[in-house]
Amino acid sequence: DRVPTTPVARRADPVGFLGFDPFDPAFKADPYPHYRRFSASGPLRRTPSGPWVTASYSVCTQVLRDPRFGRWARTGGPAPEAEAAKGLNFMMQDPPDHTRLRRLAGKAFTPRAVERMRPWIEELARDVVEGVSGRVDLLDALARPLATRAIGELLGVPAADHDRLAAWSEACIRALDPLPLQPVDLRPRMLEARAGFAGYFRGLIADRRAGAVPAPRAGGADLPDPLGDLIRARDEEGALNEDELLATCRLLFVAGHETTIHAIANSTLALLRHPDRMAWLKRHPEVLPEAVEELMRFDSPTHLLWRVALEDMELESTRITEGEVVILLVGAANRDPAAFTDPDLLDLTRYGGTVPRHLTFGSGIHFCSGAALARLEIQACLGRLIARDPVLDAGPLDYSPGVAGRGLDRLPVIIG
Ligand code: HEM
Repeated sequence: DRVPTTPVARRADPVGFLGFDPFDPAFKADPYPHYRRFSASGPLRRTPSGPWVTASYSVCTQVLRDPRFGRWARTGGPAPEAEAAKGLNFMMQDPPDHTRLRRLAGKAFTPRAVERMRPWIEELARDVVEGVSGRVDLLDALARPLATRAIGELLGVPAADHDRLAAWSEACIRALDPLPLQPVDLRPRMLEARAGFAGYFRGLIADRRAGAVPAPRAGGADLPDPLGDLIRARDEEGALNEDELLATCRLLFVAGHETTIHAIANSTLALLRHPDRMAWLKRHPEVLPEAVEELMRFDSPTHLLWRVALEDMELESTRITEGEVVILLVGAANRDPAAFTDPDLLDLTRYGGTVPRHLTFGSGIHFCSGAALARLEIQACLGRLIARDPVLDAGPLDYSPGVAGRGLDRLPVIIG
């Protein structure tokens, strides 16, 4: 028998808010049939306690690319969800601030800059995967160390501090859940984590300015240096203020950390459940990049994004009023039969043809800045891992309690 968990107090009844219960263990285990039932009532639905909710690929894509949607209502104050996510990082901002800050942080993440990281990430993956064997939890043994070391080293965070930042990161990522679905005790934990990050990066930035800690390097070569880019933009051009600098550092660590961990674990689980396809992929390593795209679509680590209407408008012949929130179930949209043939089929060569892009990295102006790096990490990790013929071990699969993200807390595997 499982130990009963403490009931979690939330601000709203999830079924009233979303139209389904994202905390139901059956939903956690397999949300896709629940999404399918939800979609049967149409592409855009309003729930009793407030937001609009959509599981449609077409509506999600439209909203993400439409400048009439953003993070803040221009009048009437911030939407409740935005309030919880406040903290001035550019993912939570609209143009022009978003545009300015994204550009400053983005130099280190262009496809070219990420290509320079390839030998380093491949070495990291080799190191981490070669270090494990036998019965292990894939999260602890592999996904967490890999994702934490990658973003930690890229930001020039000394190895001894990685675990501390990783612990804060978890509370911050949960703050992306819609406020009414957050446990009531999350806010103090999240504020503490943010204060921890701000204090930490203030110190690290002071050390970088004083030349007391080095810029990131690997294998005798310089790596792209997002922290150095941001410090120079602040000190030499005055292009951002100190709070924006700190919030951007926190964003890069948090965004680069949790989602990548969950992407590695969700993808591995999908392959473990389809051993024939894993064996095929082992024989066709050249298909890995394409296969990773399909794994991202098939069981996305991001399931829920949201936007606020910045003006009154029509969407899908429905009137949306300024300030209203639209919840975008992107994990569901990735399985929308109107967009993908046989959406529940894991087809590792699907992305070889002309297939609509999955929404796992978002779309439009907030499209994931770290997508190229995330892809590189996942490809390197899965490539090394499947060469070791992993199998699923007995034991429960524990999903993390978050709503916006979907990911395992524990994945028992046996690695040969
Ligand atoms: C934004 C997913 C890895 C940095 C986003 C968004 C998604 C996403 C869906 C858009 C959020 C929205 O529109 O509301 C993922 C997934 C990852 C991943 C699934 C791993 C598989 C990374 C990595 C980094 C990163 C490794 C690197 C530091 C960012 C940043 C943003 C972002 C900075 C904000 C972009 C903006 O607002 O313009 N990510 N991400 N992500 N991601 Fe990622």
